Amino acid sequence: MAFRFFEESAHVAAYLQYRVTPHELINKIIDFMGPKLQNKFNLAVDVGCGNGKGTVLLAPYFNQVVGTDISPAQLGLARANSIRQNVSYRQSPAEQLPFESSQVDLVTAMTAAHWFDRPRFLKESERVLKPNGCLALLSNMKYRALEYGDATSAVNDICQEFLAALLPFNEPHMGSCPSKIYFDMFEACPFPDKQWNTCQNISRKMTINHFIGLVETYSSYQKLKSEDATKAKRLSDDIRNKLLAAMQVSSPDTELTLVMKYFYMLARKP
Ligand SMILES: C[S@@+](CC[C@H](N)C(=O)[O-])C[C@H]1O[C@@H](n2cnc3c(N)ncnc32)[C@H](O)[C@@H]1O
Repeated sequence: MAFRFFEESAHVAAYLQYRVTPHELINKIIDFMGPKLQNKFNLAVDVGCGNGKGTVLLAPYFNQVVGTDISPAQLGLARANSIRQNVSYRQSPAEQLPFESSQVDLVTAMTAAHWFDRPRFLKESERVLKPNGCLALLSNMKYRALEYGDATSAVNDICQEFLAALLPFNEPHMGSCPSKIYFDMFEACPFPDKQWNTCQNISRKMTINHFIGLVETYSSYQKLKSEDATKAKRLSDDIRNKLLAAMQVSSPDTELTLVMKYFYMLARKP
């Protein structure tokens, strides 16, 4: 069964506006792939590409990049925002990719593989990858921290309060620890040349409103909203007010820093 959380237009628009794209990790993937033939690799496939913000980051290194996703709404935004000639999008389940066997140089999934039928996706990646082709999966820990000068401890407590309020609405499929899901995939991946990397800190400056908008894109917040929209709005308003008070500012457009921890696995097909 596929999870279809990314279908509603307001949600996918918010996703495009607020989600963090960890561009810092793209170089690590490209370095792992090794020497390029004639300056570029041929084909990358970004599975669960969503709105394509991560997919386009691969464009400078490949002749062709194809983003695939199961959600027509996400793909609509990806196509509307596509400015790269060598990037295209196709609707497809991660477990049944629209490529011949041994055709693809790189399969990526960015903050997406936890939604897939993971054993089937690993098999499918192995099928489409060329010999020496690479699989790169990345995502982030549940950990989030906020920083704001002398008020860092106070804003961070408020951040943890926000996340704790959403815990009961977490999708059970995700388990309590996202990195465990990925570590299990890492262990299940049959390629002998593989590496697991954890805890790369990624920081972004963003406004209070942007931080709240980002948390509102989480599936847990969306679940709360679908059960009780008033309660969800009250929670966001309360967190906004607490942040304003802790930072001693009046504008929710004031910036603070969000720190996230990413992990990623890289593996090369023999
Ligand atoms: C959290 S979003 C990540 C999107 C994008 N990679 C990013 O970094 O912003 C997960 C995406 O995976 C897609 N997805 C979930 N299950 C899928 C499946 N079985 N096959 C293909 N796409 C899937 C969703 O539609 C969604 O767009």
